[in-house]
Amino acid sequence: MNYTNITVAGSGVLGNQIAFQTAFKGFNYDINEEALEKAKERIAELKTHYEADLNAPVSELNAAIERIANSDLTQAVADADLVIEAIPEVVQIKIDFYTKLGQAAPAKTVF
Ligand SMILES: NC(=O)c1ccc[n+]([C@@H]2O[C@H](COP(=O)([O-])OP(=O)(O)OC[C@H]3O[C@@H](n4cnc5c(N)ncnc54)[C@H](O)[C@@H]3O)[C@@H](O)[C@H]2O)c1
Repeated sequence: MNYTNITVAGSGVLGNQIAFQTAFKGFNYDINEEALEKAKERIAELKTHYEADLNAPVSELNAAIERIANSDLTQAVADADLVIEAIPEVVQIKIDFYTKLGQAAPAKTVF
C-alpha cells in the first residue's frame, strides 16, 4: 500500500520529529495550539540540521513546515492513510484518543 496522507497524533519530543519526517506528504495533529507552537519551534531547529547535514532544499523544508499544523482531529484524519500515535502513556488518554479516532477516521485508515 502507498501511504500519501499521514497524520501524527501528539507533537511532543517524539511526535514532532516523526511529523517533520512525514510532513512532505502528511499532516500533524495535536491536542492544543500551545503544544503545536512549541512543536513548530523544535521543527524549526530540525530544519537547520536537515539543511546542514542532508543538504535538503530550503523550499522543500519550508513547504513541509507549512503542512504541519492542525488541532482538529476530525479534519486531520479525514483523508488519512496512516495515523502514527505519539501521545502520553496514560491509559485514559489512550482510550479517549482511540475512541475519538475510531469515530473520526475513514475505514481505509491504518492506525
Ligand atoms: N521520547 C522518546 O524518546 C520516546 C521513545 C519511545 C517511545 N516514546 C513514547 O512516545 C509517546 C510520546 O512520547 P514523547 O516523549 O513525545 O511525549 P511528550 O510528552 O513530549 O509529547 C506528548 C504529546 O502528546 C500530546 N497529546 C496529549 N494528549 C493528546 C491527544 N489526546 N491527542 C493528541 N495529542 C495529545 C501532548 O500535547 C504532547 O505534545 C509516549 O507514549 C512515549 O512512551 C517516546
